Amino acid sequence: MSKILVKKSGALKGRVEVSGSKNAVLPLLAATLLTGEECVIADVPDLKDVEVMCKLLESFGASVSFDKEKKKIRVKAEKITTSEAPCELVKLMRASVVAMGPILARTGKAKVPLPGGCAIGDRPINLHLKGFHAMGADVETKEDEEQSGYVQAVCKQLKGAEIYLDNPSVGATENLMMAAVLAKGTTVIENAAEEPEIVDLANYLNKMGANVKGAGTDLIKIEGVKKLHGANHAVIPDRIEAGTFMLAAAITKGDILITNMLPNHVRPVIAKLRECGVVVEDTDEGLRVSVKRQILRATDIKTLPYPGFPTDMQPQFMTFLTTVSGPSVVQETVFENRFMHIKELKKMKATIIARGRRAIVAGGSKLEGAKVRATDLRAGAALILAGLAAKGETEISDIYHIERGYDGICGKLTALGANIKIVP
Ligand code: UD1
Repeated sequence: MSKILVKKSGALKGRVEVSGSKNAVLPLLAATLLTGEECVIADVPDLKDVEVMCKLLESFGASVSFDKEKKKIRVKAEKITTSEAPCELVKLMRASVVAMGPILARTGKAKVPLPGGCAIGDRPINLHLKGFHAMGADVETKEDEEQSGYVQAVCKQLKGAEIYLDNPSVGATENLMMAAVLAKGTTVIENAAEEPEIVDLANYLNKMGANVKGAGTDLIKIEGVKKLHGANHAVIPDRIEAGTFMLAAAITKGDILITNMLPNHVRPVIAKLRECGVVVEDTDEGLRVSVKRQILRATDIKTLPYPGFPTDMQPQFMTFLTTVSGPSVVQETVFENRFMHIKELKKMKATIIARGRRAIVAGGSKLEGAKVRATDLRAGAALILAGLAAKGETEISDIYHIERGYDGICGKLTALGANIKIVP
């Protein structure tokens, strides 16, 4: 098993380019299953999760080619040969569940083992299923003999429905949008997620001939169409990767120019960094994040669905808060168990007290290198940041979580002057 070794690094300096968004590209790839014609997705990040999604598309009968050099994936799902997703792929990546909507819409049946992925809470899919059911599908959830369950949805022809999501789930909004584009009639998704990845997916579906309106608001309206056609699309930049580099600049008191990013997508991170005294400038070339003062102030954060502070930036921001002057409160309202990094940060001499979904970060900690474990993707990124600021060496294990979602993070940080390497 490979590990990441990080040594205390001085102020990171230079320019870094953000890759295409992991959370946008996965549903875009799933959407290519909605047509038999060729689709080309560009600006694709080189990630384990993308490889898993490609294998998943192939398992349904699609032909897929990934030109990593050109960052392009071509998919042609001329014939769907099965409606069942293989367990070994779904276990590797929870986001596989977004293939359910397109497969159901295209074949009238979708069967998926209950998902794995990051262990941040139970992560149910009841809202996805509630939506399929409202659209006329018979939905069945079963435990098999190995106690790893599966869900199945069957329907001759999906029909438009009014669906209210009890909370604005990103995955459910995407899945239901993709099911609804080929349904008969109009579907309305109320309390829909408003994340930029939803807008990117809606834009792509519309390029394929769908009729989706309102993406980016909490009310999405989809008029079903009979057929979709192939279309090309470039993935939006990864706002969480961008945010992670912003935090790398902040925690090392560096000066980084981040290119290929959309500052509008990271407004809460910009606002919170500014509250701490970090300088964030929107320049013609990119977003420049720098620290010009010795002492940075504490601030409280509370995660919320977009456009609130992203839960996917909470572990990284909390890590930064351990190093600034004064205490802060971090509230996690999106996931019920997203504080696993705290145990690891404590090994690095951070002082944090967690009570339920609330943590008090003492601030002013002098972090020290330690042997730590990446418990999930963003926790792994947080530990890299901690390692950059900590005295001595930090050894991070279970780095497959990090490789799932960050395209070449060690190389990019090294180019900025970080002392970081992957060791087999
Ligand atoms: C997506 C992102 C993930 C991000 C999350 C929240 C991808 C591949 N992943 O995950 O990086 O952290 O959005 O921004 O895009 N829930 C239910 N029932 C459901 C579905 C969700 O109760 O059927 C709950 C979840 O348990 C969680 C909350 O809703 O507490 C948000 O989850 P959701 O928005 O669905 O996250 P994902 O789509 O899994």
